[in-house]
Amino acid sequence: MKKKIAVLEGDGIGKEVMAGALDVLRVIEKRFHHHFEFVEGKIGGSAIDSYGVPLPEETLRICREADAILLGAVGGPKWEGGPSHLRPEKGLLGLRKEMGFFANFRPVKAVQSLISASPLKREVVENIDFVLVRELTGGIYFGKPSGRFGETEPQVVDTLRYSKHEMVRVIEKAFQLARTRRKKLTSVDKANVLESSKLWREVVEETASRYADVEVEHLLVDAAAMKLIQTPRAFDVIVTENLFGDILSDEASMLTGSLGMMPSASLREDNVGLYEPIHGSAPDIAGTGKANPLAMILSAAMMLRYSFHMVEEADAIELAVYETLEAGYHTPDLAVSGGVIVNTKTMIRKILDHLSEDEVIAGIMATFQ
Ligand code: NAD
Ligand code: IPM
Ligand code: MN
Repeated sequence: MKKKIAVLEGDGIGKEVMAGALDVLRVIEKRFHHHFEFVEGKIGGSAIDSYGVPLPEETLRICREADAILLGAVGGPKWEGGPSHLRPEKGLLGLRKEMGFFANFRPVKAVQSLISASPLKREVVENIDFVLVRELTGGIYFGKPSGRFGETEPQVVDTLRYSKHEMVRVIEKAFQLARTRRKKLTSVDKANVLESSKLWREVVEETASRYADVEVEHLLVDAAAMKLIQTPRAFDVIVTENLFGDILSDEASMLTGSLGMMPSASLREDNVGLYEPIHGSAPDIAGTGKANPLAMILSAAMMLRYSFHMVEEADAIELAVYETLEAGYHTPDLAVSGGVIVNTKTMIRKILDHLSEDEVIAGIMATFQ
């Protein structure tokens, strides 16, 4: 298959982890006889430095012409303090909005060899497997008016606005996903306080009537934050609005052992998608070789699975990641007891080795069939 992939590495560790995803995809290309064309574009702080804006027209054009987009991370202290339209994060938010990627899927899965890396007890985190579906193009991130007003006494305003349509489409996606899994949907809101959450809950109830096979529960966001730590295994699919989803997904990452383990897919109604780790540019470790490349590599696997329907290829990447962890290799963010701490480049190398070894084994097996 021939596919065009927009590659936006962004800032900080974005560049370091993207190198791993591209190396892995090049091996997949050879092993499975595909042709991936990588087209690079700038976003975030590096785009501000080169173009004066965080989301240049050129980058948007590259993304519009691509079959899928891979993104590293944006942001950093260098670009803090300026006007809000010139922040790196605006580039990422603008890209999600312009491209219409309204449904963000953040899978949370306990990897057996990483159980000891979580600060929670083994019996709490074992066998966790859920997906957090986050609304990505509405809510308080985008509502107008937003800004700072007032001459003597500053006043600020952010607006939490949603249309029903924006809720319907993402909630529908979450129900569809639950139907393919353990058929349990947890909707998270703040319906005891917020008008937006009251409508959200109504839409979940309306949609539920068409999914009689899916069990639905409603949780208030504060209680959901608690239950994520108390009984995370109870979740199958969680659906929530933009800001709640942002916060809860970073919290959930600690069930897996590290923020550096969490990939994501942002989708709309066609097959085009944006694939990025949920972590940021990690300025505190950028350039030190400590970045965990797995969230980015697993995001590339999600791209193969969801945008290109390359199931075997995606499985091969995930297997290589799990085998590498099983063999004891990990970056320093994972506080695993035992094992070997390696830097970003070595971790990538180990995964590439497993991908090639698996290919040899697959070849040998094929000759016996
Ligand atoms: P962060 O996610 O960059 O880092 C939080 C902590 O997790 C840091 O201690 C960091 O070292 C660690 N960490 C994150 N990813 C890691 C990885 N792959 N391997 C090892 N450790 C990792 O969040 P922050 O420090 O709050 O924000 C830094 C910048 O990133 C800010 O400008 C923020 O706006 C931006 N940000 C961007 C994205 C994105 O591009 N999608 C996401 C979140 C934050
Ligand atoms: C994320 C990030 C972004 C968000 C920031 C960088 C705008 O935290 O992808 O989770 O809040 O959506
Ligand atoms: Mn976030």
